[in-house]
Amino acid sequence: MKQHWQALRAHHATLADVRISTLLEAPARAAEFSARHGEMLFDFSKTSLDAKGLALLLNLAQAADVEAKREAMFRGDKINVTEGRAVLHTALRNLNAAVTVDGENVMPSVRATYARMVEFARAIREGEIKGQGGAYTDVVNIGIGGSDLGPAMAYLALTPYADGPRCHFVSNVDGAHIHDTLRGLNPETTLVIVASKTFTTIETMTNAETARDWMAAKVADPAAQFAAVSTSADRTAAFGIDASRVFGFDDWVGGRYSMWGPIGLSLMLAIGPAGFDDFLAGGADMDAHFRHAAPAHNLPILLALVGIWHNQICGYTTRAVLPYDQRLLRLPAYLQQLEMESNGKRVSMDGSDLEEQSGPVVWGEPGTNGQHAFYQLIHQGTRVVPCEFIVARQGHEPDLAHQHLLLVANCLAQSEALMRGRSLAEATGIMAAKGLTGAELDRQARHRVFPGNRPSTTLAIPQLTPFTLGQIIALYEHRVFVEGVILGLNSFDQWGVELGKELAVALQPILEGRASIEGKDASTKLLVDYLTTAPKA
Ligand code: F6P
Repeated sequence: MKQHWQALRAHHATLADVRISTLLEAPARAAEFSARHGEMLFDFSKTSLDAKGLALLLNLAQAADVEAKREAMFRGDKINVTEGRAVLHTALRNLNAAVTVDGENVMPSVRATYARMVEFARAIREGEIKGQGGAYTDVVNIGIGGSDLGPAMAYLALTPYADGPRCHFVSNVDGAHIHDTLRGLNPETTLVIVASKTFTTIETMTNAETARDWMAAKVADPAAQFAAVSTSADRTAAFGIDASRVFGFDDWVGGRYSMWGPIGLSLMLAIGPAGFDDFLAGGADMDAHFRHAAPAHNLPILLALVGIWHNQICGYTTRAVLPYDQRLLRLPAYLQQLEMESNGKRVSMDGSDLEEQSGPVVWGEPGTNGQHAFYQLIHQGTRVVPCEFIVARQGHEPDLAHQHLLLVANCLAQSEALMRGRSLAEATGIMAAKGLTGAELDRQARHRVFPGNRPSTTLAIPQLTPFTLGQIIALYEHRVFVEGVILGLNSFDQWGVELGKELAVALQPILEGRASIEGKDASTKLLVDYLTTAPKA
């Protein structure tokens, strides 16, 4: 791999004086540096990548054996080496596939659970399964991380399709979250889904107990208004949830890749089994594209290569995800977990130090809101932040089509502004036209210069639907996978979350005054003292 990284760095150095705007003057630039899959368009022509850079990146992907490793994943090899697990979330969205793990065909059980979810969702949506006070009006999903972000993100994204009970998502152990969520809900018509792969996560189990107490105060049989989603049948039974309301899955589904199966139950309740099927079909469609399209036309591979170019080669360590779609409000947070929990690692597969930077810092907000908040830095700050725009051709509000066009105009304007910039001569001309002269003209003009030449990509879709959302999520999942393969790390474990969890467990009795603080560092002692001392009257 070394020589491929070196070749990329050497080539990047030759592009130091090349401007993206100049690259875009080539007539074929936009066509050659964009790719389509079905109705989806990925434009990466507003980056500094040229033909040679792209060819070198494709060589890098080939040297990393991306295609063989992709097949190993789909085949069910135990590519999550630190946990000894297969990685088969793709099986959840391709229910007709034949998938074996340890020689056993796992699909009959996946299909059976899916059929139970469909029947449960149908019966609840049609009022056949009721709460003590009548048909369910509300569903509270209690989970965190991968057991929360996926369904919470998708529920908001697919609001136009939501015709079932209202869904609410509680994740934070901060009592404020469950308090504010349950306030105003009727326990007699609320279904609580405890969603936890392990059924041990302290935040989720604490919130589940709080919800059970809330329910018990008004409902004769609170357990009858609970359902659970977990890999641990023993623990869900110990919590008192009837097996008929427990939807299991296997350890070969990673938490942040789990919204396609039972963890998506709240979404299925909201949009119905048919809508959920469309979501799965979108994911399966992207899987097929990822498996069969040539690397140079393969959207997940291209997204990954652009990411590698910006992060590892250009040295831009963050990545802004900027959906021009208010309903994708939670997508940046979802992608943050997907990318940062998967590829935020400093050790490669074999335990040696990673030779390249780990995955990028991912962050973002929907446009146009972000424009009035942090875009200042993106346009004129000293750091370069590659921006990833997402925009749909069509909204869901025909009466407000003019607002959608304004949204699209803003999205396109931002990528154009980042690329084009505004020179000192242009800024001087503008300020001179306003009557400024001399030193004041010079000073004011300099503040209005935009360096430009700032890279962005745009993912354009026809409309945000269950199918296209499924495509988008699977696209990003595979992008993260390809980046991980190229970096040589295991994208499917998350040991970096463990130490903080262990220390929190040890700190709780100290905060409660049941254990000594001796042995803690001075800063922690100071903070414990402050946080446990009553304010002076
Ligand atoms: O702490 C990280 C993590 O393990 C995530 O990977 C996971 O999505 C989340 O916690 C929730 O875990 P669980 O579904 O087991 O409650």
